[in-house]
Amino acid sequence: MPDTLTPDGLLAELATLLGPAGVLTAAEDIAPALADWRGLYQGKAMAVLRPANTQEVSACVTLCAAAGIPIVPQGGNTSMVGGATPTEDGNAVVLSLARMNRIRAIDPVDMTMTAEAGVIVKAAQDAAADANCLFPLSFGGEGTATIGGVLSTNAGGNTTVRYGNARELMLGLEVVLPDGKVWNGLRRLRKDNTGYALRHLFVGAEGTLGIVTAATLRLFAPPRANEVLFCSVRDEDAALAVFRRFRAVDETAIRAFEYMSGLGVDFAAKHIPGVTWPLAERADHTILVDLASTRADADLQSLAEQVLGDAMEAGEVIDAVVGGSEARRQALWRIREEHPEAQRKEGASVKNDVSVPVSKVPELIRRASAACVALIPGTRPVPFGHMGDGNIHMNLEQPEGMDGDAFLARSHDIMDTVNEVVRELDGSFSAEHGIGRLKTDMMEAWRGGAELDAMQRIKAALDPRGIMNPGKVLP
Ligand code: MLT
Ligand code: ZN
Repeated sequence: MPDTLTPDGLLAELATLLGPAGVLTAAEDIAPALADWRGLYQGKAMAVLRPANTQEVSACVTLCAAAGIPIVPQGGNTSMVGGATPTEDGNAVVLSLARMNRIRAIDPVDMTMTAEAGVIVKAAQDAAADANCLFPLSFGGEGTATIGGVLSTNAGGNTTVRYGNARELMLGLEVVLPDGKVWNGLRRLRKDNTGYALRHLFVGAEGTLGIVTAATLRLFAPPRANEVLFCSVRDEDAALAVFRRFRAVDETAIRAFEYMSGLGVDFAAKHIPGVTWPLAERADHTILVDLASTRADADLQSLAEQVLGDAMEAGEVIDAVVGGSEARRQALWRIREEHPEAQRKEGASVKNDVSVPVSKVPELIRRASAACVALIPGTRPVPFGHMGDGNIHMNLEQPEGMDGDAFLARSHDIMDTVNEVVRELDGSFSAEHGIGRLKTDMMEAWRGGAELDAMQRIKAALDPRGIMNPGKVLP
């Protein structure tokens, strides 16, 4: 392939390869792929490519490599950090995996599913359920996010406390490397110690080392009993104490353990139709506990009552409601799932997706909230999220009456303020949303030295021309 392929020549070759429907160039057709859903970035690109299979992805990458044209892989475009949208240079192509949406195989004996990158997470869940299995990854964007995207970002979500992050759900990968070579690593082995665990390199790399085109995923036995509890608790320490109580009685029963501030629940009740405070009295701190068991005869209600009884006696839980019907359980989950949307409707907000050791979550919430209020008086902390795995969305809502843009202009000060606390508590500045574009400038301070140096060498070795998702992850 000549190294002199011009951009026009490249587009002509791609159109021959993929057909006119596989190469979008009209402004109105490519617009949705150029902006992230949070509205943080507005990029440019020459085209959106829509290959239908791995061979076509490989051929696209080979052609782009020959032309020196950068490639931005895109799944459901639900990145929280601008990881899936192109930069403003305009010389890149977006490569959408949307057409690669086949479930290639489900094996209920091996408990594995092999799915292409463009399969939507919800579709993977449904396909697993049809085979009487569970694909446990679950989060707000599951109706849009794709398997390739969740692996490329190592998505976490609500069930990490029980089943792990996307990485732990992955047994094998198929990847198109930056030179167009296809690596078929779709093994479905639980034990395979044969050199470097290459597959793990691509998980969380956000498409900077190659394009995940398919994956073999772990499945589990589906829960046959389920119970959801919503409780008001005395404070952050009480929330953690209740988590420890459940863990001590039956760790395997905890499917999710989520914390929400009272203000976050207020926002959901104010902005989301159908959502109301589920308890007689408002409180400053709440938790949502999702219990599940693979045993149909598991008595989760008794388990809940036993733990709640003890926690109430200890003054940790103030009030509680137990779901009961499926509709009721879903209604309780909605309060939590609608937090991002409710926060958006309330005004400008700054997201801080951080993690600390679970034992430090109460201190994180208290100290980061106080520090941000000291920085910008009137700022409204809305911490919520995955307390059971230490990942709190330490989000800040603009002060009432303040101009939203003026608040957002302070984003970096706010992030720095939160991160100072996170660092002191041995945490991470990015727990589950990744680095994308938003946080590349923090990599040096947090991962600089041997760690970042090793990452940069890996990048240079696999992608010497730097064509894979440039401007993301690495500074
Ligand atoms: C969630 O868990 O709802 C999202 O990851 C958090 C967010 O929008 O900050
Ligand atoms: Zn989250």
